Amino acid sequence: MDITIKPIDKINAKITVPGDKSISHRAVMFGSIACGDTEISGFLTGDDCMSTISCFKKLGIDIEVNGENVVVHGKGLHGLSEPDGLLDVGNSGTTIRLISGLLAGQKFVSRLNGDASIQKRPMNRVIKPLSQMGANIKSTNNGYAPLEITGTELKGTEYHMPVASAQVKSAILLASLYAEGETTVIEDMPSRDHTEIMLNYFGADIKNTGGRITSRPVKELYGKPLTVPGDISSAAFFIAAGLLTPDSEITITNVGINKTRTGIIDALLEMGADISIINERSAGGEPVGDLIVRTSELKAITLSGDIIPRMIDEIPVFVAAALAAEGTTVIKDAQELKVKESNRIATVIEEFGKMGAKITETDDGMIINGKQELKGNTVYSHLDHRIAMSLAVAALNAKGDTVITDADCVGISFPNFYELLDSLRK
Ligand code: S3P
Repeated sequence: MDITIKPIDKINAKITVPGDKSISHRAVMFGSIACGDTEISGFLTGDDCMSTISCFKKLGIDIEVNGENVVVHGKGLHGLSEPDGLLDVGNSGTTIRLISGLLAGQKFVSRLNGDASIQKRPMNRVIKPLSQMGANIKSTNNGYAPLEITGTELKGTEYHMPVASAQVKSAILLASLYAEGETTVIEDMPSRDHTEIMLNYFGADIKNTGGRITSRPVKELYGKPLTVPGDISSAAFFIAAGLLTPDSEITITNVGINKTRTGIIDALLEMGADISIINERSAGGEPVGDLIVRTSELKAITLSGDIIPRMIDEIPVFVAAALAAEGTTVIKDAQELKVKESNRIATVIEEFGKMGAKITETDDGMIINGKQELKGNTVYSHLDHRIAMSLAVAALNAKGDTVITDADCVGISFPNFYELLDSLRK
């Protein structure tokens, strides 16, 4: 599907964005290996989370989906059964990496694969630490999917992560539930901690002492009701739209504001953005708030170090803000962008380039001169949801219309994105 985005004059709106993708995946996975029912509200019904549901159904779990309300009838830590055929993770890196940790300690063999993008995403980053725990995982494709996992007994380990990755950390923590002895993951920079929060909420024993995350096995986990907050990664597109469009104000209610995810807000505040967070509260151990965003004159900054993992998924839309800011923005330490759903350094530079932006590629990021006027053009999503949505936001303040080809990939994380974007015009 192609979509045409026309420029917008001003925005005055109050919206909510769909549920958090990371938390929705985890609710299904952890609910499946917990005893009893996990009733989830605010579940993200995007394609990635539906891939997780279909995998766990194949592993013998009964899951009822009623729009954003999902009930997982968990069978306890040892209740999964051998899947009949391949587990298809679709486009979802979170599904394949987390599930690998979980399947490593089962008593059966599982085969995993996904789409063309998944088959280019590095899996050695989970194969290595899981193998150190005794896991038997084979890639038939040189460190990429497809994978074959022969469940086996596992032993606890200590693993110092070479990259900040919540997916790797979570895979190890899931395997630790089946391992003998304790497991410690050491992270130099904090990555999102939804796994630690939700597993503990279900009865696990995981502690973080200054970046050493230690898990001691427990006998069982217990399902509990969960409310998934709105996804800050999805809110980011509307935050940028509100900041960059003249005379605008946009309120986004019920957004997850876990500190391991709010790098985008911190970066924009440092650039001079007018963003306030009100009604701070908590849901299932996760902090939530409402955001009010007003048109702002932004100033360039340098992004590097700890903030990068805290906003890794928001960097493509951050580029749209940097292009409008005054001065030169530098993004460093962001090599991980190269192994996302697309190579996001390359795809951002290529597609924003088609709209007239000149961005310099570096080994670990980009250099972006500000105050660049964008022109509408035909641009390509590269089948990457966040690239499509970042281009759509930039298009709101470009000169002329923009056509995004293969635009329907937004269904991965934000099924109603274009409808919500269109509602800003009313
Ligand atoms: C995610 C972790 C991040 C993020 C991805 C979701 C998660 O990936 O980019 O969209 O749910 O754990 P990495 O662990 O590769 O950094």
